[in-house]
Amino acid sequence: MNEPTGGSAAGRTATASGGGGESGKVKRTRVVILDFGSQYTHLIARRIRECGVYSEVMRFDADPDEIASGTGAIVLSGGPSSIYDEAAPKPDPSIYELGIPMLGICYGMQAMTEALGGTVVRGTTREYGPMGFLPTDGHALFHGVPETTQVWMSHGDEVVEPPEGFLVLGRSTDEKIASIGSDERRFYGLQFHPEVVHTERGKRVLENYVHEICGIPSNWSPESFVEETVEAIRREVGGSMVVCALSGGVDSSVMAVLIHRAIGDRLVPIFVDNGLLRKDEDHDVITRLRTKLGIKIDVVDARRRFLDALEGVEDPERKRKIIGTEFIRVFEEEAKRIGGAEFLAQGTLYPDVIESVSVKGPSATIKSHHNVGGLPETMNLRLIEPLKTLFKDEVREVGRELGIDPDILGRHPFPGPGLAVRILGDVTPERVALLQEADAIAIEEIRRAGLYDDIWQAFVVLLPVRSVGVMGDERTYEHVVAVRAVDSLDGMTAHWFPMPHDVLERMSARIINEVRGVNRVCYDISSKPPSTIEWE
Ligand code: XMP
Repeated sequence: MNEPTGGSAAGRTATASGGGGESGKVKRTRVVILDFGSQYTHLIARRIRECGVYSEVMRFDADPDEIASGTGAIVLSGGPSSIYDEAAPKPDPSIYELGIPMLGICYGMQAMTEALGGTVVRGTTREYGPMGFLPTDGHALFHGVPETTQVWMSHGDEVVEPPEGFLVLGRSTDEKIASIGSDERRFYGLQFHPEVVHTERGKRVLENYVHEICGIPSNWSPESFVEETVEAIRREVGGSMVVCALSGGVDSSVMAVLIHRAIGDRLVPIFVDNGLLRKDEDHDVITRLRTKLGIKIDVVDARRRFLDALEGVEDPERKRKIIGTEFIRVFEEEAKRIGGAEFLAQGTLYPDVIESVSVKGPSATIKSHHNVGGLPETMNLRLIEPLKTLFKDEVREVGRELGIDPDILGRHPFPGPGLAVRILGDVTPERVALLQEADAIAIEEIRRAGLYDDIWQAFVVLLPVRSVGVMGDERTYEHVVAVRAVDSLDGMTAHWFPMPHDVLERMSARIINEVRGVNRVCYDISSKPPSTIEWE
């Protein structure tokens, strides 16, 4: 997410992507997850990828033919609804006749039970949190799971009678039905969430389902992804030219190297310096990419333009929109100047795609992510999104496979709108410079303490308040900055990083001594949710 990735699905038509992006051309057997709105849907997709099997999320009401194409197993996700709600999401009933194995999780199990004639009752109390689970002896779904194990529950409704032909395969410690299954149909249900870490053997249950019950072998690897994607890009692009925005972050670097491998210098990466980058990043990034990745880069100095457009703007969403629009303009001008491009490559990742197919819809997007989704319409460019089937950590694996420098792959994510969303209030050149200095010191101290790779993302935020201090005999009235550092897997949830006190001490002392205009440093101890990683 280090670059303008598309939160919008606009123009998402051409899709050179290995691992199944081109619908109908999937080579490997995939697992389809139908999303009923669970906050854990993306985790199911992740866990199945971790089993070495390609997984894709679709809306609960996706077309059955589309669901069935190349699919070896279906998972029905959980969801916040009760099957008794009037607007409860229900899949097309013909999915139960496709002859494809199915696993219903929580709401998914209840929907399956109701559709196949079992009985679901509205629970009077919610079962929420950790719970003991006792699987039936020897069922393949629970191989490797002990007699009693801890699982994570989150449901109100309850299955009290499985459909005909189904057996009860496990109960919770309070005797409620927690798993059902029909070996004949290879349909199973779990009342608990195997995808969350609080379920002790959850991953094993998913492995059993995918490998043992559905017979799908592990077949996803970064190597096969690179091979197939390079081939798919060549097929799709033919002899044309591709432009892409390059920010120097992990995603755009991996994307550029991948496309470069496929079509060489017919890829034209454009690096837009918007004046909102980290200290010295413009030089750093360009040098690294040119020398280490051997890619020709078109550099555009648009610093003035962005800062002028942001003058006097304090509202976070307006800042994002202005930056997005300005970026599109610069990019458009540049692409016109270069001429001849037919394709635009975009570093969209899988979480963006999941968001756009979610039951909750893209409207549930919490922040409008800076993207270039508007470009294809105005520029008549076709879109390619070679990373759109990958999660962030998979992008890093692919980057390693491509031989990209660990320094580039290990960089902390950086948002498209840059420091503008870390300067609360008005964005001025002075405030950008002040934040760049403070941020550089914090990162330097983190590196010095050997913690950079243990932290998922760290940065400094400039607050729109001043505080009183005393320096020498003088009373000061100056800026406050906050240091933010988090642990995360994919940015969707995060926990604040327990920074050692001596590191905090050095950061604070150095920032206050070395950055003119700052007299107070705070440490942000909020997790996501309910906070977000960035402050705006
Ligand atoms: P939040 O603040 O939403 O951030 O918890 C999650 C991750 O996304 C990054 N982020 C962005 N990345 N364009 C991007 O490319 C954006 O507009 C944007 N906003 C947030 C953020 O840095 C964190 O890694």
